[in-house]
Amino acid sequence: MTTFLSGIQPSGRPHLGNYFGAIRQHVDSQEEEGEHYFFIADYHALTSVQDADSLRANVREMAATYFALGLDPERVVFFRQSDVPQVAEITWLLSCVTGMGLLERAHSFKDKTAKGIKPSVGLFTYPILMASDILAYDSTIVPVGKDQVQHVEMAQDMAGHFNAAFGSQVFVRPEYRLPESEALAKVPGLDGEKMSKSYGNDLWVFESGKRLKKAVGRILTDSREPSEPKDPAGVLLLDFLALFLEDTELEDWRNRIREGGQDAPGYGHLKVRLIEAWEETFAPARQRFEEYLADPAALDSTLALGAERARERACIVRDRAYRACGLR
Ligand code: ADP
Ligand code: TRP
Repeated sequence: MTTFLSGIQPSGRPHLGNYFGAIRQHVDSQEEEGEHYFFIADYHALTSVQDADSLRANVREMAATYFALGLDPERVVFFRQSDVPQVAEITWLLSCVTGMGLLERAHSFKDKTAKGIKPSVGLFTYPILMASDILAYDSTIVPVGKDQVQHVEMAQDMAGHFNAAFGSQVFVRPEYRLPESEALAKVPGLDGEKMSKSYGNDLWVFESGKRLKKAVGRILTDSREPSEPKDPAGVLLLDFLALFLEDTELEDWRNRIREGGQDAPGYGHLKVRLIEAWEETFAPARQRFEEYLADPAALDSTLALGAERARERACIVRDRAYRACGLR
């Protein structure tokens, strides 16, 4: 049996990188045979969001975003992480078989501390909580963006260590799955670096109207004339267009930029096409997003139903792990 599982932190408004790198694969995977668990990682978000009202609002926004973008809570068990406290119980068991050295090697922890973030213990042990999320549902496939691969590998290690220590096949080994192309696994931001909330170079998926125009206007360009032939690989706007356009149209834009001359498009043309393609892709979902958000009680009850189903599975796995190590 294939069991898909992934989570996303409610630490702000989901951006284009979150969509193409994570959310879209989550939504697409529901078409595949198997069980599906997707959740809003609010325990994880506490490492950065420390304001109760913001956290609650972010959770609802994230749920509305997923539903608007096509996630079907009938087919997928969709829930809030903290509604399944068994995950916190399993976290403790895993932390007892995890060496400090493993956590010290985590890229995300090293990156964050290098940026000057003063780490809490929670930030340090974050990969254990994530491993517990994965192992608590006997997940076999974890669709994630590139930056999460190491965390899934750590979950593999922790499952192996626990099984080795307690002499039984308690936890199932998970595998990660990346988006099908490199372009989707690492979406650039306004400045050409990886798009990330923490770099302030991100674009909210449901941005629209004047704000969208203004945001697209901030995508890094240079002062070369449209007629000057250019290497398409150095034109950031084309990387953005690549997310939206069919290959043939994209190739056409690339060729015209490469050739230059009187009829070559300027950056302004690329921006206009990007806004148009963005609207085509996201406008209907944006409308649904507003509708979902207008009914918070319905969102809460859908999440509660998902949590009930998630807890059922997590209790079975928790009991299996407790018995294996002598806590029952
Ligand atoms: P951020 O870096 O903005 O804080 P998160 O760490 O919350 O984003 O990432 C949530 C999900 O989105 C993860 O699965 C991650 O791999 C994916 N993701 C984040 N940024 C990008 C990006 N620029 N390109 C592709 N995927 C991304
Ligand atoms: N750490 C992930 C992120 O920042 C979110 C997450 C938490 C997750 N638990 C998970 C992803 C389990 C996949 C599986 O994006």
